[in-house]
Amino acid sequence: MNLFDVYPLFDIEIVRGKGCRVWDPAGNEYLDLYGGHAVISVGHAHPDYVAAITAQLRQLGFYSNSVVNSLQQQVADRLGQASGYDDYALFLINTGAEANENALKLASFHNGKRRVVSFRKSFHGRTSAAVRVTDNPALIAPVNEGMPVTYLPFDELTLVEDEFKKGDVSSLIIEGIQGVGGIQVPADDFLRSLRELCTRYEVCLIVDEIQSGYGRSGRFFAHQYAGIRPDIITVAKGIANGFPMGAVLISPMFKPVHGMLGTTFGGNHLACAAAIAVLDILAKEQLIENAERIGRYLRQELATLPGIREIRGRGLMIGIEFEEPIRELRRRLLFEQKVFTGVAGAHTIRLLPPLCLSEAEAGEAIRRLRRTMNSMAQ
Ligand SMILES: Cc1ncc(COP(=O)(O)O)c(C=O)c1O
Repeated sequence: MNLFDVYPLFDIEIVRGKGCRVWDPAGNEYLDLYGGHAVISVGHAHPDYVAAITAQLRQLGFYSNSVVNSLQQQVADRLGQASGYDDYALFLINTGAEANENALKLASFHNGKRRVVSFRKSFHGRTSAAVRVTDNPALIAPVNEGMPVTYLPFDELTLVEDEFKKGDVSSLIIEGIQGVGGIQVPADDFLRSLRELCTRYEVCLIVDEIQSGYGRSGRFFAHQYAGIRPDIITVAKGIANGFPMGAVLISPMFKPVHGMLGTTFGGNHLACAAAIAVLDILAKEQLIENAERIGRYLRQELATLPGIREIRGRGLMIGIEFEEPIRELRRRLLFEQKVFTGVAGAHTIRLLPPLCLSEAEAGEAIRRLRRTMNSMAQ
C-alpha cells in the first residue's frame, strides 16, 4: 500500500530530538526553528515530559469518557491558573480543527444562529466547519459548503458591524496571530473593537490560539496583549508538546448539556499526563518569558539583515517577509546550514521554534541565515 500523497516532503527523516535540536539517521544535527509546525513548546524529549508520559503509560494508557478521569480536572485547574481563565470550563479533544469545530458548534447551539464571520488569509483546520471558515477555496470541498461564512479584511470595523446588523451571525472567529496567513498580528485596538461589537450584537467571539497560544507570543495567549476576554478560546499544537491534543476554553455564559459535545479519545490519560508536564515545564523554566525575550532579540538581529521587506510577529512566532521569493533560501538553510524553518506564501519565512530556544541558539540561527544569504548573493 502507498501513502496517500498529499504532503510535499523534504527528503529528510528526523529520528531524534533534544531541546531545539533534531537529528537525521546519518547523525546530522539540525537547529529546529520550526518546532514541527509550532507543536514543540517545551523542547524535544524533555526529560520531565518523557518521564510523565512513561509513568502514565505504565499505569493506564486509556479509558473512556464514561468514567471519572481526575487528570482532566488537573489539566483544567492548571490551565485555568496559568492562563488567567480559571472561571472558564474546559472541553478536551485531539486536534486544532476539532477544537474549532466544537467552538463553532457551541456558539451555534448557544444562540441558534448559523452564519460565521471569519477573516481573509485565515486558517482554522481541515474538518467541515473549521475548513469552511478557512479563507482558502482550494481546501473547501463541495460537502463543506453548506455553512454560510463571510470573510472580511482586518481593521474594517464598519464591514463587521454591517454583517452583525443582519442579525444572523452566530460567531466571529479570528486567530490570535494569523499563522498560515504569514504571521499577521491583528492590532490590539481592532481586537478590542471586535470584542465590543460581539458583545453589542450577541455574536460569540472565538479566538483561535492554536498556533499563537500556550506562550508562543510571549504571553499565555496572544489576545492578552489587547486585554480582551473572548467567549471561546481554542488551543492545540503546543498544549502537549507533540502528543495529539486540543482544547476549548469556554466562558461561563455557555451552559453544558449532557451529550451536547463528545469524543472517544479526547482528554485521554496519556494526553492529560503530557499536558500537565507541559504546564509544569512552562512554569518551572519560565518559557513564556523566554519566548518574549528571545523573540525580541531575534527580531532586533533580523532587522540588521538586507533584503527584508517586513518582520512581523510577537515572541517566538515570527514572520520574515523577504523582497525576493524564499524557496531557494529556505532550501539552502535546511540542506547546507541545517536549519529548519517554516514558510507562508512565496516570500515569508516563519519561525516557530520550541519556546526553550536560548540566546546562543538564536544567535547561531542568525549567523547561519546570514551565511546562506551571503552565499546566494555571490
Ligand atoms: C491557527 C490554526 N488553527 C487550526 C489549525 C488546525 O490544527 P490541526 O492541524 O491540529 O487540526 C492550525 C494548524 O496549523 C492552525 O495553525
